[in-house]
Amino acid sequence: MQPNVHIMDHPLITHKISMLRDEATNTKDFRQLVYEIALLMGYEATKDLKLTDAEIKTPLMTTTKKVLDQKVAIVPILRAGLGMVDGVLDLIPAAKVGHIGLYRDHETLRPVEYYCKLPSDIPSREVIVVDPMLATGGSSAAAISFIKQRGAKNIKLMCIIAAPEGIKVMTEEHPDVEIYCGALDDRLNEKGYILPGLGDAGDRIFGTL
Ligand code: PRP
Ligand code: URA
Repeated sequence: MQPNVHIMDHPLITHKISMLRDEATNTKDFRQLVYEIALLMGYEATKDLKLTDAEIKTPLMTTTKKVLDQKVAIVPILRAGLGMVDGVLDLIPAAKVGHIGLYRDHETLRPVEYYCKLPSDIPSREVIVVDPMLATGGSSAAAISFIKQRGAKNIKLMCIIAAPEGIKVMTEEHPDVEIYCGALDDRLNEKGYILPGLGDAGDRIFGTL
């Protein structure tokens, strides 16, 4: 596996993804699990955020201690990525949130853009793109190209389940992007769904099955 691809093996993440896969998991629980997984993955994916020295006055003395030196933007790919935003925001409440709307054309499986609104200072932010599913990789690769066109340089992708096909596309098109996945599945089916996967993430998060 390429050095910029990180497959999480934390037992809590693995367990929660198994619950997500279960077709008996209802919308409410599915949404809650996506939130919890995003929070756990976000903790891991932010472990290289830069720190700087700051003077802190405690009740007893003044001291120099480390504080965050990097501003963050979270960019969900609509719709399903929305389910992961709050988990990361709970870790980094000062983060800004941009949105990219893409859907996969069911015939061609190619992403179609319908919305893009990003923070104007995105070039100076560490960008965390969130989408539960990395299938063909078309949506994530296109979203990251838009974000790069707006000047962002530090970009990470967090996805809950990835297919090998999506990892290949992402690492070929965006070798500079660190990819964090909760699980690496077997393959895609003929309709571009991840196997064994969890089905349609957007429909399961929003109850539109
Ligand atoms: C899903 C998913 C990803 C995309 C992954 O979105 O949330 O964005 O498919 O597939 P890819 O890697 O082959 O591009 P979908 O297009 O179903 O839209 P939705 O979130 O609005 O349901
Ligand atoms: N999008 C989904 O929501 N699920 C898949 O398995 C593939 C793409």
